[in-house]
Amino acid sequence: MIKRIAVFASGFGSNLQAIIDYNKNHSLNGEIALVFSNNKDAYALSRAKENNIKSIFFNPSDYGTREEFDKKIIELLEEEKIDLVVLAGYMFLVNPGFVRKFKNRILNIHPALLPSFKGTHGIKDAYEYGVKVTGVTVHFVDEGLDSGPIIIQKAVDINQDESMEELEEKIHCVEHEIYPLAVKYFCEDRLKIEGRKVKILNKMI
Ligand code: GRF
Repeated sequence: MIKRIAVFASGFGSNLQAIIDYNKNHSLNGEIALVFSNNKDAYALSRAKENNIKSIFFNPSDYGTREEFDKKIIELLEEEKIDLVVLAGYMFLVNPGFVRKFKNRILNIHPALLPSFKGTHGIKDAYEYGVKVTGVTVHFVDEGLDSGPIIIQKAVDINQDESMEELEEKIHCVEHEIYPLAVKYFCEDRLKIEGRKVKILNKMI
């Protein structure tokens, strides 16, 4: 069965674009049914429109409480019969209630090798710390911060004369390579969670 995917993005949406492109060129066994944003100016929403994908914006400040905002999103996802939520630069923490509702059906990408450099500045924090190797992590979302079971990680070397901008570019390239794969594995029912560990059945990389 083709899985119905909702991508949540607050900004530029290059990961959204990578997932759209992968689906066009290789197939995810999934359909990007909608793109949701908490930011009306997110370029991700324009990308959705350009690709004839339903785009939805809800303004968090229109809702009295976080629970009301989440309720509205959950209603939307249920109406659209969404199987998988893909967070792609969604800069708005997802609440535990939402995570419980979509348990093991929310993915996130983090621009560092978790559990190192959690939080919103993964690239900068790794660069400034002086690590020689950083990378990208795709993981399931649980109720903690960047703490769910890891699906794919790929390392990126930090060369000594490299600027942070150069590192950012390398990290984004790797993101665009591995996020569509993780989505595809999910859509093909190839991810098996065993405690903290995720097994990929018939792994390609
Ligand atoms: C990516 O670096 C991702 O790892 C992080 O937010 C950024 C989103 O970039 N979670 P984009 O909006 O997909 O271009």
